[in-house]
Amino acid sequence: MTTINAATYPIHFDEKAYNELTSLVSKKNYSSVFILVDDNTLEHCYPRFMQLFATVKPIEVIQIDAGEIHKNIETCMGVWNVMTELGADRKSLLITLGGGVITDLGGFVASTFKRGIDFVNIPTTLLSMVDASVGGKTGVDLGVLKNQIGVFANPEMIVIDAEYLHTVSAREIRSGTAEIIKYGMTHDIQLFNEIKDNDQVNIVDLIHRSIEIKNEVVIEDPKEQGVRKVLNWGHTIGHGVESYFLENPKKEALTHGEAIAIGMVCEAYLSSKVLGFPKEKVSEIKEAIIKIYGKVTIDKDDFQSIIELMKHDKKNVAGEINFVLLNDYEDFKINCKASEELINESLAFYNA
Ligand code: GLY
Repeated sequence: MTTINAATYPIHFDEKAYNELTSLVSKKNYSSVFILVDDNTLEHCYPRFMQLFATVKPIEVIQIDAGEIHKNIETCMGVWNVMTELGADRKSLLITLGGGVITDLGGFVASTFKRGIDFVNIPTTLLSMVDASVGGKTGVDLGVLKNQIGVFANPEMIVIDAEYLHTVSAREIRSGTAEIIKYGMTHDIQLFNEIKDNDQVNIVDLIHRSIEIKNEVVIEDPKEQGVRKVLNWGHTIGHGVESYFLENPKKEALTHGEAIAIGMVCEAYLSSKVLGFPKEKVSEIKEAIIKIYGKVTIDKDDFQSIIELMKHDKKNVAGEINFVLLNDYEDFKINCKASEELINESLAFYNA
């Protein structure tokens, strides 16, 4: 797979990416190398990483607990403390090896430690390969509110090695697939059709195309002042649903992708009401999403709480919920509004 060049860093693919990483480490002459892992990636991904990455620099492994509930400032404190105890300095490198929690949190830890040290992302889940690790967003959650604290900071390099996908569950793969579907609906419908119409897909091709799309959007609008908001298609309602299921002890937490998939169905409904997105495509999206993700029951009594959570979305301005909606596939509009009544209807549409 060909290297994709982001604004300030390359995204390398496959085993040759480790040679590039080795060259980077010797060229930059880092004083030490830290690797951030969680329990899962330490066991399942770190051995492969060590086999393929060759360096004479001292390497320190820092392990955190796996899971979104640990994506918070307390975990960052732990990592900053360990780095300090181990003598990290401004010429240290932090390599993040893991899913979105590790790459988002690790990027934030690195970009704030001693006012910023270099970091390299090695995403190991589909979600982090096609979205979280690319584009310079770093940060942590504030309670159940996702990614409320963070900074834009670019890694020195991203290594995409699809072999790590063998270490994650089918549910995790489905979660990442939702982001690929997102790029399909907004930029390249072939991605959605490929997933919708086939049981077996060439995942490496889908990853490469997804990153190409995300990278083009981020190059145009790195700080999300405008067009980058398109990457939140399905996420406004999706994040509300995700946070609600996370904070409610009576509900089983959803993966990010499962929640975003629900969000895409609801926002397709809003698109048809607000912008005239074709109704048959709304039905096509609902059918495909339910086929892939199954049906989640969202009680009518849950709707208002979900809408309240949506009011914390970072894209909102002056308390108004801000949506990306579709005129048609590959034809989106940012900064759209929808009444609470319509949002309620869209959740009811998903439920029906
Ligand atoms: N995950 C959305 C973005 O990176 O902008």
